[in-house]
Formats: sequence, C-alpha cells, structure tokens
Amino acid sequence: MDGNGRWARQHGRNRLAGHRAGVRTAREVVEYCGKQEIEVLTLFAFSSENWSRPAEEVNGLMRLFVEALQREVRALDDNGVRLRFIGERRNLPTMLQKRMADAEALTSSNTGLTLVLALAYGGHWDIVEAVRSIAERVQAGELSPENIDEVLLEQHIALAGLPAPDLLIRTGGEKRISNFLLWNIAYSEIYFSDTLWPDFGVDCVEEALQFFSQRQRRFGLTSGQIGATGD
Ligand code: FPP
Repeated sequence: MDGNGRWARQHGRNRLAGHRAGVRTAREVVEYCGKQEIEVLTLFAFSSENWSRPAEEVNGLMRLFVEALQREVRALDDNGVRLRFIGERRNLPTMLQKRMADAEALTSSNTGLTLVLALAYGGHWDIVEAVRSIAERVQAGELSPENIDEVLLEQHIALAGLPAPDLLIRTGGEKRISNFLLWNIAYSEIYFSDTLWPDFGVDCVEEALQFFSQRQRRFGLTSGQIGATGD
C-alpha cells in the first residue's frame, strides 16, 4: 500500500493524514474483496524497515493501527472476515499486540474472507524465523536434516496453511517487491500501479483483477502442457 506520504504532500497535509486516508482505502478494498468472494487478502501495513522512519510517524502509525482495529473489528466479524496477523509482534506496543490477539481470537472461526495484516513484517525475517524453528525441531530430535524440504519450510512460513498469492499489487509507482512475502510470491502475477494507495479504490482493484484474468499461468510448464494454445 505505497503512496500515502506523496498523497498527503499533494493535498498539502502531513504524512499521518495520508496514512489515515490509506486506512479508508483499505476499508473499501477489504469490503469489495469480501463481496467478490476472494479467499485471502494480505495487506502490507508496516514493514520491518519502517521502524527506521521518524519516531513521530512510527508512533502515529501505531496509534492508527490500534484505533482502526478498535473501530473495525466488530464489523469485520459481522461480515464473516477472519483476521490474521503476520510479522514480528514483540516490538509492537503492548496495547496493539493485545488488540491483535483479541481480533484473531474473536474471528478465528469465521469462514469468509481471510484478511492478513502484515505488521512489522519482512520477507527476510519470515524466512529466518522459519529456519530457526526448523533448527529447534532438529535440535530437539523431532526432525532430521533429511526431512527438510520445500513443503516443510512452507509449513513454517508466516502464511502457513494459506494458498500462495495469485496476484500481488504494488501501488504508488515503484517497481519492486520491498521484502514482501518473498517465499510465497514465487509464481504470483505482479501488477504495478502508479496510483497512490489512498486513491486506489474499487475501480483500480477491478482493473488489477482484469489484468489478472488475462494472464496465462504456466508455473514453469509450456503452454502445450497446460492445454493452452501456443507452444
Ligand atoms: C506506505 O506509504 C504505507 C505505509 C508505510 C503503511 C501504512 C498503511 C496504512 C496506514 C493503510 C492501511 C492500514 C491498515 C490498518 C489496514 P508511504 O508512507 O511509503 O508513502 P510514500 O512512498 O508516498 O512516502
């Protein structure tokens, strides 16, 4: 969800106002994805690297996350949304950690959209955590190194149990991944949009889905092997 800061500057507002506008867009997009029967939506709200932003912005974002959770969790629950958080929780404010745990517990048996919020998340962190927990299991004698394969690693990655993303959308004009879901996006289709996140409304999501519907997904096979026209 890139572009909140530039959106704020364009509107003569401070960066936090841009993030507040970003939360409004997130709400709209979540609602839309729920109605479209999309199975999982993962939003990158705060990266491991974002901790290095000015303290005022970091603190403002943390407050915004607490407020947004407090305000939205009931409506999300009423709409059957299951919330899940990925990232390094222990550095987040205690109040936020508590809200996150409460929201996950409240919505855990819902069967609609799974909404994953990546908070203090980094793809490198995720892989390191997975490796660490596998190493601990080896040390405890539960596993031997020969048992380590892609399936096992995947079971220790933060999105374990959820399908790999079909589509990755990056807003705000940058053409890079910025340490998001590195393990899981091996075969994701990638859609780059110049639109700044606060302006990325339902029309923009529809355009991204339209792009996705035209992609031929081969997962390393040839067109012939997947039964499509071509070689
Ligand atoms: C990037 O814009 C956005 C962030 C660092 C994260 C904040 C995202 C939100 C507040 C929206 C959704 C929140 C929730 C709780 C779902 P930027 O600051 O990098 O923008 P810039 O590149 O234009 O400076």
